[in-house]
Amino acid sequence: MLIPGFARLLAQEQPPIQAALERAVARLPAPVREVAGYALLTGGKRLRPLLTLTAARLFGCERADLYDLAAAPEMIHVASLLHDDVLDAADTRRGRRAAHQVFGVIPCLLAGDALLAEASHRVARFGDPELVLCVSDAMLRTVAGEAHEIARQGSLSHGLDEYLSIIEGKTGWLLRASCRLGALFAGAGPRDVDALSSYGLNLGMAFQIVDDALDFADEAETGKPTGGDLREGKLTPPLLFHMNALPDAERSRFAEAFAHGRFSPAEVADISRRIRDRGFDRAARDMADASLDKAAACLEGLPDRPERDILRQALSFVRDRRA
Ligand code: FPP
Ligand code: MG
Repeated sequence: MLIPGFARLLAQEQPPIQAALERAVARLPAPVREVAGYALLTGGKRLRPLLTLTAARLFGCERADLYDLAAAPEMIHVASLLHDDVLDAADTRRGRRAAHQVFGVIPCLLAGDALLAEASHRVARFGDPELVLCVSDAMLRTVAGEAHEIARQGSLSHGLDEYLSIIEGKTGWLLRASCRLGALFAGAGPRDVDALSSYGLNLGMAFQIVDDALDFADEAETGKPTGGDLREGKLTPPLLFHMNALPDAERSRFAEAFAHGRFSPAEVADISRRIRDRGFDRAARDMADASLDKAAACLEGLPDRPERDILRQALSFVRDRRA
């Protein structure tokens, strides 16, 4: 459910964000434009551009070229999803066929590469090395988080600390960059830039924890197949809680299937239902509250303007989202 201020902002800002993304796609090499457009121009909550816009406006910045900056984190995000769906062999994304199922793997990898290159280029054109460092750090950390996750695929030997380190990289750093870009662009002071960065990082971690809880919800609600993390051998909080609750005999069968990605569709459906019935997805959502509280605390010393309320509402948006 969307809360009014955030919903209003989402609706108001969709057309100019969409126009900035269309300008970006038009600059890509012709052979990848259709694939990039398929992934970038339809669907998506546009949370990252909204954060950049709101962070900049919090410090009074209303420059028209802000939209071109705000498009960059969305392009990086969509590039990472194009690559992620190949790595995860995903069938669907946002309720329709994943791009690699429509266009093939190689066009998707190249479209992702082109989006990354164009995002870097448009940030660099603003001529401020801090902006470039901000997005390049975020890209590196995203890759590091994803590589860490892949290295642990099928493993049940790591715990919540390592999970948190993975999601800080793969999701937290790009939301951090979305906020930081806006604050830097607006010329905010170093303490405010750091506070907004930390807000974004914690918001991003909460976003991923909720995402991992939603992995066990109905596909009709989320647009993603139920239990993807189970099939892909990704140890997320609901799965950790489920495993810890299993009797010994069942746990060894679970560990064996998890390590080798050998759950049948019926087992995936059954485990997902048990996770929901026992409230392990809700327990995971509760874990997100710690990150959301940290993010809320980061807003305390920032300017008391309407944008700060929007950033507060973004916390509820992440906490309550159902898709
Ligand atoms: C979605 O996670 C994936 C990510 C948040 C990051 C993916 C990163 C890469 C593929 C590395 C390349 C990085 C860049 C910057 C291009 P998920 O699979 O848990 O979520 P899902 O269920 O939405 O697929
Ligand atoms: Mg994935």
